[in-house]
Amino acid sequence: HTKEQKIGEIIASHAAKEGPLLPILHDVQHEFGCVDAESEAIIAKALNLTRADVHGVVSFYHDFTPAADPRPVVQICRAEACKARGVEAIIDAAKQAAGERVKIHTVYCLGLCSAGPAARYKDDLHIRLDAETVAELVENA
Ligand code: FES
Repeated sequence: HTKEQKIGEIIASHAAKEGPLLPILHDVQHEFGCVDAESEAIIAKALNLTRADVHGVVSFYHDFTPAADPRPVVQICRAEACKARGVEAIIDAAKQAAGERVKIHTVYCLGLCSAGPAARYKDDLHIRLDAETVAELVENA
């Protein structure tokens, strides 16, 4: 799958909608971690808009970023079950270990509710985290 093909599929999946631009942008952001200039151009062409139109929308909403964040991302679940299991008490340790180097991304449920606090780094899931193990996970990211 080239990027253009993938974006083409995303566009096709929303084409029948009225006002497909925002859902398309959300999907592209989710898929690629950004809506870059190349994506804007592909989307503009498909929707018969100008690049400036698309860029205007991308820069208006904070949900969209023009370039992917190059930092490693550690996802930490802060939904109900993980809260009950003490995730809030280990967030500071995670943030401190992360500093500016690692991005801590809050997610809501990783499907490991009975073994929280839970986190994901790349494809690896981590369970029953405490301040020490979460710091270790972030440091090694
Ligand atoms: Fe954290 Fe489900 S609530 S994994």
